[in-house]
Formats: sequence, structure tokens, C-alpha cells
Amino acid sequence: MRKRIVAGNWKMNKTFIEAESLLFDIADLLSESRPKDVEVVVCPPALYLELTSDIAQQNDFKSGAQNISHHAQGAYTGELSAEMVKSAGVKYVILGHSERRLYFGETDEVIAQKIDKALKHDMTPIYCCGEVLEEREEERHFQVVSDQINKAVCHLADHEVRDIVIAYEPVWAIGTGKTASPDQAQEMHAYIRSIISAHYGSETGDAISILYGGSCNPGNAAELFQQPDVDGGLIGGASLKAEDFVKIVNSFKK
Ligand code: 13P
Repeated sequence: MRKRIVAGNWKMNKTFIEAESLLFDIADLLSESRPKDVEVVVCPPALYLELTSDIAQQNDFKSGAQNISHHAQGAYTGELSAEMVKSAGVKYVILGHSERRLYFGETDEVIAQKIDKALKHDMTPIYCCGEVLEEREEERHFQVVSDQINKAVCHLADHEVRDIVIAYEPVWAIGTGKTASPDQAQEMHAYIRSIISAHYGSETGDAISILYGGSCNPGNAAELFQQPDVDGGLIGGASLKAEDFVKIVNSFKK
């Protein structure tokens, strides 16, 4: 069975004290109730990764980074390499988030290099793809997502692609309160799986976890997670409140 995953992307939020308190609250609530086979991942700002890894290790969840450099090491002021991030106990890394594409000019070519670096250092990339509103209105969303996956993922070998997670995050749904309907999410997730199956065979396509992201909250998570090709969520705003985040984790059918 595919791995079911709920990952929280804190983006650029929380001071050190607030981060520590949120991590302990998440750990406490998870200890009260959680479906056993759901992987929970918390992706704080990089400054708190080591702290997150320590708390995660003791509480059966995982830490994830929000980005890594596409360079291996050296004179790249302000950057963090895959090796450095890995050495802080990190298991997952979000790559290709639409905010990085939009505000930091990341292209799929650069993101492909980041995916390679993450895999080299034994971290699971969570590769984000998704269309903007205009592209959906013009009915180009399938083409856009297919291009993104072809450019950033399809260079991988079969055994590598099985080690990645894909997150479908329609940009028009991120932070807007407008969630994709369960049907829209299912349709795109099935399409993404078909792209992977076409390249790597259906066994590999069936093995890949595909998460939904974009205004996912405790009120809509259950219906989204019931879709056959939705294997969990990448949660932004709602991951900043421990109760909401853990409610989303518990939205999976037990
Ligand atoms: P929101 O859940 O705040 O819409 O953000 C989604 C997201 O960007 C997760 O990476």
C-alpha cells in the first residue's frame, strides 16, 4: 500500500519560542490520537530544523526542510546544502513550491538538480507542481502539470522515482481559502499517476504518494483524502495550529 502522508509547511512563520511550543503541542496531540500508518512531517523554517528533528525523533514524526540549494557546497552565501540539512536529522524536503518558483525564480531545471541532491543525501523530495488560475481557466492545467513533471522528475531512474513524493498544489488554492474540489483533486492526481506510469510502468506509478495542497483544513481534509489517488496533504496555514494540523492527520479513515 502507498504511504499516506500529512506534511505541514510552516513557510516563514514562528519565532524560536513559538516554534518550540507548536512542536510540543503537535507531539502531545499526536500521542493522544493518530492513525498508525500515516507519516506525519513537519517542515519549519530552516533555523528550527535541528530542534524539530530532535522532537520528531522522540515522538514518531519526521522533520522536513522547505528548500535546499542546488549546489553541493562552497561560496553560495545564504544557502544550505542537502548534506548540511541532512546532518540536522532531516528526512524530507519540499522542492519546487510555487512560492519559490514565483518569488525566487526557480525553474524546473534548477528544481531537478535539487531533487538529485536530496536523493543523493537520502532525503525524500516532496516535489510541488500545479497550475495558476489563468492556466486552469484556459484549460491548460493538465499540460502545465505534465510539463513540470517531465522536466523535474522524469530524468530519474526507476529506483529513484519511487523515493519521491509529489504534491499537487493548484496555485489558485494556496492561501486563498479556495480548495480544489475532491473531484478536481482526484482528476489531477490520477493524471499525475498516469504520467509516472507511462514513464516507469504502472507498478511504480501505483507506488508513488501524491499529496494535495491548497487551503486544506480540518473541514475538507476527510473528503479529499477519501479520493483514491489522494494519499495525503501538504498543509500551509492550518499546520500553524497544532489542533487543526492533528485533526487533519486524523481525517484519514482509520
Ligand atoms: P495553504 O494550506 O495555506 O493554502 O498552503 C498550502 C501550501 O502552500 C503548502 O505547501
